[in-house]
Amino acid sequence: MEDRLNQAREEALARIASAADVEALRAVDRDFVGKGGVVAELLASIPSLPPAERGAVGKGANLLKREIVDAIAARKAALEAAEVEALRSGAGFDPTMPGAPVTRGSLHPLTRVRREVEDIFLSMGYQIADGPEVELDEYNFQKLNIPIDHPSREMQDTFYCDADHKLVMRTQTSPVQIRTMETLKPPFRVIAPGRVFRNEEQDATHEHTFHQVEGLVVGKDVAIGHLIGTLKGFLREYFGRRLDVRLRPGYFPFVEPGYELDIRCPFCEDGCRVCKHTTWVEFCGSGMVHPNVLRAGGIDPTKYTGFAFGFGLDRLVMLRHEIDDIRHFMGGDLRFLEQF
Ligand code: DAH
Repeated sequence: MEDRLNQAREEALARIASAADVEALRAVDRDFVGKGGVVAELLASIPSLPPAERGAVGKGANLLKREIVDAIAARKAALEAAEVEALRSGAGFDPTMPGAPVTRGSLHPLTRVRREVEDIFLSMGYQIADGPEVELDEYNFQKLNIPIDHPSREMQDTFYCDADHKLVMRTQTSPVQIRTMETLKPPFRVIAPGRVFRNEEQDATHEHTFHQVEGLVVGKDVAIGHLIGTLKGFLREYFGRRLDVRLRPGYFPFVEPGYELDIRCPFCEDGCRVCKHTTWVEFCGSGMVHPNVLRAGGIDPTKYTGFAFGFGLDRLVMLRHEIDDIRHFMGGDLRFLEQF
């Protein structure tokens, strides 16, 4: 018995000393001190031994177990320390190995251009205003000089959100004009970029959800020349060069006079697909704020005047990146989005 104990001790300690990793130590633990291991076997054999030997063997087996457990712990600590040391010294690290690829997301082109537009207007002293996407009919239409039965509503059919048609998905960012007049004291300059919604046939240039940027400036003696100068300045920054603009009369109930502002086609001199061979591209609706609208916003039209404009953000992005279908923006197709 004495021999078997000694033999087990030698074998176990040798295996521990030569263990190269924690896995090997676990195997020693399993073979010697685990259930069914050598120590357990020795202990199990005690009842069959002559009574005089039993005490010594029991004691020896338990001491052996303690010794092996301690040796395993010590070796484990040494292995771990060596591993830390190796990492520290850089051994086994190959700096020429390619790293794990990091997949990066990117901003949606609409977000990028919106931020760029915001920066340009901020640099001209504008504030950024915001309003709800589910808007009161009163703000989306009535206070903008579009009464309940006004025919211009037909051009902006929307999604009515309640039984009495008091709440609508806003069809334009223009209601933010009213909300701004109600909260700011003139003089002020704001732009309000945002999502708008219309219930209409969809095609390459029409989508139920799209984006506009509204502009509103109110103060003393604000005139149409300020509007033209502002938009020209914006366009120069955005396109990186001067572009001629022209005003055509345009009807929008909330401005008087109202204009359609076109820009010279940024892509050609004598006609191309983008400008439909006219050399002009429609850019925005604009005009002098109608007195009724100033009044609806709580501003005295005998003291203040203002100009307003509204353009499509999607359009601007499409012009920048030569995108031919507005439906790409909300389509969620990664092959489109990953290009930006
Ligand atoms: N809200 C108009 C639309 O969606 C665009 C517009 C026209 C905005 C003239 C304006 C404006 O502020 O003055 O068609």
